[in-house]
Amino acid sequence: MKTSELRERFLQYFERQGHRRVASSAVIGPADDPTVMWTNSGMIQFKDVFLGKENRDYSRATTSQKCLRAGGKHNDLDQVGFTARHHTFFEMLGNFSFGDYFKADAIRFAWEFLTGPVDQGCLGLDASRLWVTVFEGADGVPADTEAEEMWKAAGVPPARIMRFGKKDNFWQMGDTGPCGPCSELHFDRGEHVPGDATPNGDGDRVMEIWNLVFMQYERDAKGVLAPLPKPSIDTGMGLERTASILQGVDTNYEIDLFAPIFEAIWKVAKVRPEERREHTNRTASQVIADHIRAATFMCFDGVVPSNEGRGYVLRKIIRRALRFGRKLGIEGLFFADLAPAVFQAMGDQYPELMAEMGRIQKSLHREERQFSQTLSAGLKILESSNISTGTLAGSDIFRLYDTYGFPVDLVEDWCRERQITADLAGFQQELNAQRTRARAAMKAHDLRLAGDLAILADLPPTRFLGYNHLESSSHVVALFDAEHRRVKQLTGEGYVLLDRTPFYALSGGQVGDTGQLRFEGGHAEVLDCTAPAQKRHLHKVEVTGSLLENMAVNAVVHSVRRRRIRAHHTATHLLHAALREVLGSHVKQAGSVVDASRLRFDFTHFAPLEPAQITEIERLASRQALKSKDTEVREMDIEEALASGAMALFGEKYGDVVRVVQVPGFSTELCGGTHVANTGEIGVVKIISEGAVAAGVRRIEAVAGEMALELLQADEAMIHSLSRQANASREALPELLAAKDQRIAQLERDLKEAKLKAASGGGSAEQVEQIKGVTLVTALVEGLEGNALREFMDQVRTRHPSAVIVLASKSAEDKVAALVAVSQDLPYDAGTLFKAMLPALNGRGGGKKDLAQGGGSNPAGLPEAIQALRALL
Ligand code: ALA
Repeated sequence: MKTSELRERFLQYFERQGHRRVASSAVIGPADDPTVMWTNSGMIQFKDVFLGKENRDYSRATTSQKCLRAGGKHNDLDQVGFTARHHTFFEMLGNFSFGDYFKADAIRFAWEFLTGPVDQGCLGLDASRLWVTVFEGADGVPADTEAEEMWKAAGVPPARIMRFGKKDNFWQMGDTGPCGPCSELHFDRGEHVPGDATPNGDGDRVMEIWNLVFMQYERDAKGVLAPLPKPSIDTGMGLERTASILQGVDTNYEIDLFAPIFEAIWKVAKVRPEERREHTNRTASQVIADHIRAATFMCFDGVVPSNEGRGYVLRKIIRRALRFGRKLGIEGLFFADLAPAVFQAMGDQYPELMAEMGRIQKSLHREERQFSQTLSAGLKILESSNISTGTLAGSDIFRLYDTYGFPVDLVEDWCRERQITADLAGFQQELNAQRTRARAAMKAHDLRLAGDLAILADLPPTRFLGYNHLESSSHVVALFDAEHRRVKQLTGEGYVLLDRTPFYALSGGQVGDTGQLRFEGGHAEVLDCTAPAQKRHLHKVEVTGSLLENMAVNAVVHSVRRRRIRAHHTATHLLHAALREVLGSHVKQAGSVVDASRLRFDFTHFAPLEPAQITEIERLASRQALKSKDTEVREMDIEEALASGAMALFGEKYGDVVRVVQVPGFSTELCGGTHVANTGEIGVVKIISEGAVAAGVRRIEAVAGEMALELLQADEAMIHSLSRQANASREALPELLAAKDQRIAQLERDLKEAKLKAASGGGSAEQVEQIKGVTLVTALVEGLEGNALREFMDQVRTRHPSAVIVLASKSAEDKVAALVAVSQDLPYDAGTLFKAMLPALNGRGGGKKDLAQGGGSNPAGLPEAIQALRALL
């Protein structure tokens, strides 16, 4: 059975059982959830539904989810390539119940789908080769005897059911979040495959294919379990693993889905068919095949190789692949060229890959090229490291590894070739210390966030009225003091939750509103508004008087500020569309900040913007604004929105109903922000800066509306003051500045000449002596540097055609420059003579036979340095 058929069968089976088919979410975790770096399983996109923080209009769902496990809690990276069944990227088939059915049905469905007849849409697996595992109990959670009984009722012989502890049979998303005991289904590939004959043992013989999680707890940051509002179901079946069973092959890598990728690898590596099963060839190509899939989908979702976060994981994956490429004997760049094979293999399920292929390949290619430079740079540093003790220090290895991303195994190779020891223990120590630091930082972050969320999620959500109103009569739902403690009465600083509010809470890059809450006997300045838990608008306030729970307040948004924010937000959409038009459709939003003073927009693009492009982008966006079009905002379901061509952000989590903001005929985006009613409010859009944020990501800042006018006025004032100062008309300023530059350059030349004359004084500064028949000329001067000193040397040389000449010039208390020249006829090497001077000067430098130069920080050592040189003559 082809992999694509398996995928379809699974989804259809669960559709028949009343499940909604939901599209895969991105491989990167949701943008608003720092606890999730990657989508490590199918449940990630439903996390808030499990936690009861979000509602959907269905209570059963089924998906085929793109997953990534590399870094974070579920991390298989080091095993990938060396086992038959581990991947960084894979697809997970899942069925989910959100407080609908629980254990009994989940077990019944799973058993039926696996073992039921093929002609009825099931898989028809041989039941006698399946194993079932259940939770044996731990940490106050009892053994799952209930599941055991249900499996037996479904027809599993008791001898095929085994109990395991929390490592295997208690599943959790991460250190915090929803979790519960689980039951796994394992398949015995048969005796011919090496490994144990029972589940969770060694080898690839018995392999887990499906995990059913009985989601019933949420773990908080302290590790404490609290029951979920409604017990739920989360399952995950490995698509590639199950396909390998159905296709009768021994490893995931042999299924149809991988064939085009291996073809491509064998081709660049020039590995002949008879060599392909050899161990190194096989494992190396498996690593590469896995990693190109992972890297392609990561790039597709907008991840760019970098030194932190997701970008760092992508970088690691690419570099690991490149190292294994070397093991396959591939010399040149190859990795980016494999991406089209991923499309060939998976394009039927993920047709959207094609449109992004150019961008994906560019990104991979750039990293590949950079890494070969890293290798050369790292090697240079290695060559200059201190190995006189016969050991390369752990701190050196760590520095290479941490700062330059230089792979440790290459360091080991290098040491082996030189027969010295690499201090790997020392390296490990440094690495552990760094990990501890990183973990501590991450924990601190989690605790704070989890603390706020827990309090807020139990309170009723806020109704947001701010799309249409800037004022509302509201009631206080809850009050918190400055330390986030819940209070009944608030004076001074604190936080307010209202039943409804016109205040926009920071999200999607748009800052929170400010304004006032007015109430009987006082008022509160609203300094900011955020939503630490979904739909709970938390107003940060400074209260004059005293606010009480349930009190009626009049909530008023600062309207001038909101007007400016609004103009900047819609202007951001215009710029996004204009950028795509001018630069190309690879431009994707990579970050955005919209506030009252300006807008900032990060996007994927590979080169600096040229002035002409900037002008063109400003012109396009401003022209749209000046057409004074009414914007259109509509709510619709996500499929309809995407079908209408709306630009969605990968990694952004959208509910089923989304808001679509349109500037008719020019821009359509999914967006929850506040916008102008008519683009005329924007006036003009002016870009004020352009630069790089990371490899492949550019940033522009711009102003619109009143702020554009303010900018114009400020520029005007500046030009005015410049021209007054220069006593010239503004039109004459450029020419005037150019003339000044010229004049300064001329003066610098004159000054240099004057210094040179003063220094050389027609030969008076030179001392001439004879040592063993060789003429040694020395001249010590002050204030000459670089070219001037070399010119001086030329003059001395003409005066002394056969000599060793030493020139030194002190330019500060701790700065001296020196030159040594040896005429052709003398048997000395200027470089060697110069080296003898260096210790006394505390200097560096060198050169060839006829001329050497350098500098040092100890001018006082000159006499001693020259003495050292004399000794060599
Ligand atoms: N979320 C569960 C897993 O990944 C199904 O195993």
